[in-house]
Amino acid sequence: MPVVTCVEDLREVAHRKVPRMFIDYLEAGSYSQETLAANRADLQAIKLKQKILVDVEKRSTATKILGKPASVPLALAPIGLCGMQRGNGEILAARAAEKAGIPFCLSTMSVCSIEDVASSVSLPFWFQLYVMRDRKFIKRLIERAAAAKCSALVLTVDLQVIGQRHNDIKNGLSVPPRLTLPNILDIMTKPRWVASILTAKRRSFGNLAEATAGGDTKSLSIWIQNQFDPTLNWEDVKWIRKLWKGPLVLKGILEEEDAKLAVKHGADAIVVSNHGGRQLDGAPSSISALPKIAKAVGKQVEILFDGGIRTGQDVMRALALGAKGCMIGRSYIYGLGAYGEEGVTTAINCITKELSTTMALTGVNTIAEIGPQVISK
Ligand code: GLV
Repeated sequence: MPVVTCVEDLREVAHRKVPRMFIDYLEAGSYSQETLAANRADLQAIKLKQKILVDVEKRSTATKILGKPASVPLALAPIGLCGMQRGNGEILAARAAEKAGIPFCLSTMSVCSIEDVASSVSLPFWFQLYVMRDRKFIKRLIERAAAAKCSALVLTVDLQVIGQRHNDIKNGLSVPPRLTLPNILDIMTKPRWVASILTAKRRSFGNLAEATAGGDTKSLSIWIQNQFDPTLNWEDVKWIRKLWKGPLVLKGILEEEDAKLAVKHGADAIVVSNHGGRQLDGAPSSISALPKIAKAVGKQVEILFDGGIRTGQDVMRALALGAKGCMIGRSYIYGLGAYGEEGVTTAINCITKELSTTMALTGVNTIAEIGPQVISK
């Protein structure tokens, strides 16, 4: 692997190696992509405060996430179609997370199934749930996650209907990809990707084999429109809370009011998130929503954060504003698309090293010490 110094390097390689349809899917925000852009811009606008001449030799990025030790306050976010960025992508990412000592979260819309991942790693992982109209199927999915000893259920609450991503429509995004002439021409220039997909366990949604009756999901956006349940509401959260005995995480919270309802409904953690700018376009950036939510419920639930994390400096910003940990999505998928498992490990290592250096330069030795004092006012 050539020298990689940061996540941005991995992004460039992934853009060369992964077919257009899937890279576009990964990079997309919804509609005008205002919220997508705000996630990065607002993080970068937060300036860190230098603190000199503090002994930082023994500093450590170790922490706990959902009560379990983690080497760094990071978790791999659930990513739909992860196994289309690289064959067996979910297994490769789960292995990299396990080796790095951080949690991996498998998406409902993954290619490898819950059972595929469970049989490939030795530590428990988290399972992300999308609620579909067929509640019997959802109950079975929750039971499958419990049987696979998943250590948390991450219920996504901001995607009852899908925010349109223009390129997915234009590209006719489908899983597996349809072999139209433009797709064939593009795929022909990505031989490593083709080899990884051809030798992978699966080429369609592993968790949904039953729901999709083995057929392909012709147009992903239309399939989601028909299957995802727009009636999902807080009563359903109560139902899921009863079914799932382990830690329950609600992902996709941007407002204090909803954060308080999440606490009331028994969430153990929430993810302050706007779905990577992929859902409500025009919503505030995740980072701008974080401080007020942390203030309102930070003592009652664990607060995780996602939305634009590309560097350890970004992790520092989110922790300073009240997050206990950050989920990374695109950042690790760039690594996966570029170099497989090694690329995911590299993405995690880059961010970890940046965080450690940033801790040193802001004069902190432990994750617990990170607070508003590291922000330059
Ligand atoms: C699914 O979670 C997506 O954002 O595409």
